Amino acid sequence: MKEKIDLLLAQTQAMKADTAAELEALKVKYLGRKGIVQELFQEFKNVPAEEKRETGQRLNELKDAIQTALDALKEQLESTTSQSHNATNDLTLPVDFSDLGARHPLSIVRNQICNIFGNIGYTIAEGPEIEDDWHNFTALNFPLNHPARDMQDTFFIEKDPDIALRTHTSSVQIRTMERNKPPIRSIFPGRVYRNEAISARAHCLFHQVEGLYIDRDVSFADLKQTLYYFAKEMFSSDTKIRLRPSYFPFTEPSAEMDISCNICGGKGCNICKGSGWVEILGCGMVDPNVLENCGIDSAQYTGFAFGMGIERVTMLKYQINDLRLFFENDVRFLKQFEEG
Ligand code: DAH
Repeated sequence: MKEKIDLLLAQTQAMKADTAAELEALKVKYLGRKGIVQELFQEFKNVPAEEKRETGQRLNELKDAIQTALDALKEQLESTTSQSHNATNDLTLPVDFSDLGARHPLSIVRNQICNIFGNIGYTIAEGPEIEDDWHNFTALNFPLNHPARDMQDTFFIEKDPDIALRTHTSSVQIRTMERNKPPIRSIFPGRVYRNEAISARAHCLFHQVEGLYIDRDVSFADLKQTLYYFAKEMFSSDTKIRLRPSYFPFTEPSAEMDISCNICGGKGCNICKGSGWVEILGCGMVDPNVLENCGIDSAQYTGFAFGMGIERVTMLKYQINDLRLFFENDVRFLKQFEEG
């Protein structure tokens, strides 16, 4: 039996396993319930009494040696598998950046508008989307029976006193003039709400940028030149503008501004309905009543204001024909817009 043990000890040194399955087979062969070591323990019963002590010790040594050898093989196997795993990673491949989203086209255009006016000294301010009647209508010189106050245009939240979702960012003009003394030169971007049926051209929620310039001796010529600068920066340097007389309660005189159609270059197409011009904003000289409502002396100060829809500007700039696309969050649509 002693010779057998010696032989097995020598074999233990030479054990090899290239796979986990081979290792498991060795374990079963030597240490399993019907394995070699177990067999030896059975034989051990027949060893003469005087040899029992020494043989028993040798047997235990063999068992330990086998266990140690198996452990070593297991460790070896694990380290080679993880190395070969690493070898499949090609470290020279370009980095796989995770897929970043694109900025929403309305955000891109809002930022562009802010930058264009920022470059000529306009600051940016925001106001609340839930407004009272004073800031949304009354201070802006809306007559009490003006149709814009009608339920069909405005989402009222409370009645008497009226609280509503603001219908335009002109309300921020009032908040700004109430809090600041002229000179004031600011733009106010934000979300506005109107109780309108949703279609390709209208939505119950959209975005505007309002502009306001109040100082001594501000004239209509200043307004015109500022908007001309804006149109050229926003669309292209050969863009032309034209102002048509209009009416808004908070400006006098009031106008609507068209730009030469940036799609057909003024020749006439279906976007400009053959006229060569497209409307992009409302504007005018701030009505003296509005200045007085905000505590600004209309004998000393004059100013202009303008307001444009961000959706409209974006649609013209990128030739989008359905306003609903901005709100559907279809990634295929949104991904097309690169920041310029
Ligand atoms: N608030 C107007 C609207 O929502 C847009 C507008 C027109 C703003 C003329 C102005 C302005 O500041 O002077 O239709």
